[in-house]
Amino acid sequence: MSVCKRWLKLVGVVVLLMLENVASHDYGDALSKSILFFEGQRSGKLPPNQRMTWRKDSALNDGFQIGVDLVGGYYDAGDNVKFNFPMAFSTTMLAWSVLEFGKLMDSDLKLGLDAIRWATDYFLKATSIPGFVFVQVGDPDGDHNCWERPEDMDTPRTPYAVSKQFPGSEVSAEISAALAASAMVFRTIDLAYSARLLKRARMVFDFADRYRGSYNDSLGPWVCPFYCDFSGYEDELVWGAAWLFKATKMLYYWNYVNENIHNLENHVAKTTNGDQYRGGSFAEFGWDTKHAGINVLVSKLVMSGNLQSSPFLPNSDKFVCSILPESPTISVSYSPGGLLFKPGGSNLQHATALSFLLLVYARYLNQVNRNVHCGNVVVTTTRLIQFTRGQVDYILGSNPLNMSYMVGYGKKYPKKIHHRGSSLPSFDKHPGRINCAGGASYFDSLNPNPNLLIGAVVGGPDISDSYVDSRSDFVHSEPTTYINAPLVGVLAYFKSHSS
Ligand SMILES: *[C@@H]1O[C@H](CO)[C@@H](O)[C@H](O)[C@H]1NC(C)=O
Ligand SMILES: *[C@@H]1O[C@H](CO)[C@@H](O)[C@H](O)[C@H]1NC(C)=O
Repeated sequence: MSVCKRWLKLVGVVVLLMLENVASHDYGDALSKSILFFEGQRSGKLPPNQRMTWRKDSALNDGFQIGVDLVGGYYDAGDNVKFNFPMAFSTTMLAWSVLEFGKLMDSDLKLGLDAIRWATDYFLKATSIPGFVFVQVGDPDGDHNCWERPEDMDTPRTPYAVSKQFPGSEVSAEISAALAASAMVFRTIDLAYSARLLKRARMVFDFADRYRGSYNDSLGPWVCPFYCDFSGYEDELVWGAAWLFKATKMLYYWNYVNENIHNLENHVAKTTNGDQYRGGSFAEFGWDTKHAGINVLVSKLVMSGNLQSSPFLPNSDKFVCSILPESPTISVSYSPGGLLFKPGGSNLQHATALSFLLLVYARYLNQVNRNVHCGNVVVTTTRLIQFTRGQVDYILGSNPLNMSYMVGYGKKYPKKIHHRGSSLPSFDKHPGRINCAGGASYFDSLNPNPNLLIGAVVGGPDISDSYVDSRSDFVHSEPTTYINAPLVGVLAYFKSHSS
């Protein structure tokens, strides 16, 4: 080969690499940002190593009016309420992300652990009085009627609890799941802390199971229509038991899962959309419904052990077949640009949570060399991973608008997110108080938000791939902790498997 030809070949390789770079995403950058977002949602006394510095201490007296320390935890979304039900689910998903993909997170692992601990420290406080579980702090109506920085809040910080007499099995069992999953995360890092989390997880699960009922009924208008439990509390009880089995290996929890999974099959429940369904609802997974998550989580235990035959594997397969576009039994929709859609607001919560499950299931299947059969269609693990990557790439900007839905990632991203702290001037710029009504002009402003909530993933585009960057359009422009939490794990995977 002549020198010239060799040189041409080299140029060709370089051009090819450059093209690949254009098409591919910086998953490592997105991973770091997806974790940084949680710092922007912190409630309480911020630590010296806080990186999102436009946020300051807030809600430093939560719980004090009734003599309980409930300082800390996360604001749920663009408001300043601490809703423990979705907060616990986000924590479970952060912990699961680290359990599956923590080895791939490099320097972000430590920051991911900090994000989990910010929640678990708070959940230890929320469950410190036996017989009670605090499930929410902040009057949601009072909060939602104001557009205020968390640092300025003057709305009622009412603490809400469930008890033996007024139970809340769904929220208690989800907190138990979060504590159990986090106990596993911290086992090799801080054994004493891990043991505390696990002990509390078992206590809270016992409370959730022994005093059964929905917090819907116990707390009515304080939790509905905000994080109303539509799908019943049976799924959280089985989910909590599954995590406790994983964390303790105690037969009691394994039997609990197997005895109660059939209750889910017979239970008539509703999706967040209000549609009724009967049966294991293998296709649902999110802050309200844990079914598909239970199946995938337990499928690993079934595959790797000689544990009894069970519905978990077939139901996980049915889950896969309900999602993949080529499957004959698909039950989700897709935008022309390829983004997954399910009914209910904040659509990207579905894309991130379901992608996480598909990726995790693909890895479990890989270990035993198994494919999924959807009618005559064979779905390989390679296909599952490719599908997941397509969803992530869409979120990061490979879509008809070339728009990243993660704030601060890529060239074009949402500038007017529905988020009080992000849209109001920071304390550094405006130390004077901005009261409840004083925020209105900032809410109505057509200017971009002054503070970047880096890493926040918003509700996302509509089903025709369009996005109106509007603060008032909260269905599409509001970030939530449970959109980001599953994405953390998925991004860690693609960071080290980017081709
Ligand atoms: C919670 O309340 C909603 C709305 O009223 C209702 O649809 C749902 O069935 C209730 N869930 C439980 C578990 O009672
Ligand atoms: C998106 O990017 C592609 C490729 O660079 C370009 O062809 C297309 O016009 C862009 N679309 C929009 C809406 O900017």
